[in-house]
Amino acid sequence: MYVCLCKAVTDKDIHRAVSQGACSMRCLRQLNGVGSQCGRCVGHAKEVLGEALSTQ
Ligand code: FES
Repeated sequence: MYVCLCKAVTDKDIHRAVSQGACSMRCLRQLNGVGSQCGRCVGHAKEVLGEALSTQ
């Protein structure tokens, strides 16, 4: 499912980024641009990030 439509980033992309070492929204933004355009996805992206980190 898409989390960030502007950058076409899915929840799987976020889980993959976390498995590669991303641990913050800043890292996600640098890696795949999540939240770097309109910003509407930030809340959901944070939820998915938290979920991904808790399953590490
Ligand atoms: Fe993520 Fe617009 S939906 S920056």
